[in-house]
Amino acid sequence: MGDVASHPASLEAIRAAAARIAGHAHRTPILTSETLDAMAARRLFFKAEVFQKVGAFKFRGAMNAVSRLADEAAARGVVTHSSGNHAQALALAAKLRGIPAWIVMPKGAPAIKRRAVEGYGATVVECENTLEARESTAARVVAETVGTLIPPFDHPDVIAGQGTMALEILEERPETEAIVVPIGGGGMISGVAIAAKALKPSIRVFAAEPALADDASRSKASGRIEPVERIDTIADGLRTSLGELTFPVVRDLVDEVLLVEEGAIVAAMRLVWERMKVLIEPSAAVGVAAVLDASFKARRGFGPTAVVLCGGNVDLDRLPWQG
Ligand SMILES: Cc1ncc(COP(=O)(O)O)c(C=O)c1O
Repeated sequence: MGDVASHPASLEAIRAAAARIAGHAHRTPILTSETLDAMAARRLFFKAEVFQKVGAFKFRGAMNAVSRLADEAAARGVVTHSSGNHAQALALAAKLRGIPAWIVMPKGAPAIKRRAVEGYGATVVECENTLEARESTAARVVAETVGTLIPPFDHPDVIAGQGTMALEILEERPETEAIVVPIGGGGMISGVAIAAKALKPSIRVFAAEPALADDASRSKASGRIEPVERIDTIADGLRTSLGELTFPVVRDLVDEVLLVEEGAIVAAMRLVWERMKVLIEPSAAVGVAAVLDASFKARRGFGPTAVVLCGGNVDLDRLPWQG
């Protein structure tokens, strides 16, 4: 175990974030499905962040970070780079605070996400689809606007905001013994793991990751940040490497990273649409696929498991089962 003091957020910071975003963010429902319970051989609690503002958990972190800005800094606006959901989240948070937002988005980002960002009044700045291009373009926009950079996951206020969902899960379903969280840059799972393990040290926290983007799994094994090598998983929210702030939390507090194949992601997405009538996006299906996997079903030692349905922004013109 690493030093908890070296982690980017605390239970207190997450509680403060919850108080700050209350009234702005939705308290999302926890759904159940006997069909999926039977398939997973376990009681499942689905934290439905698809019903969060902007259709993803990202609004929690963005709203917390924007709320924390002093008036003078806030007035200059905010900047970020994101493949989509954080972009929408920051755009809406900025709009609610009445400040400008500039969003650097890679070419080819889902059209639904780009339209939503523009609909919230933010300015989209296009760049190539590499981390270097995103970061250098965002740095240029920050230099030009003197706005504040709010990164998608490697930021204490963003991490604290994402952790608020764990407070809600454990308050409503205190019998939860494990939480499965899709992992991209690790902001969501960092906040969730810090809050959940502080409130209930016995809880297991599992990351769910596409096998095609297995950087978190490799990073945990090697003990240092291993960059993502491919960006072709269908789970477009999970194509990112861990960050300097999120890696230590994943190293210390995440019990295990569960890898999921692309076919299982598509099957889980379709299953949740058909059986639960909930329109999840591929990144959310990664968590569902993880708990339905035979190896997870066979695990003993814990029962009721929360699965975060982290987002529902799907490009309906490009459904995976339509080829
Ligand atoms: C729907 C969805 N799920 C999961 C993630 C991954 O979150 P994090 O980067 O905090 O691990 C993202 C990030 O964009 C997302 O949009």
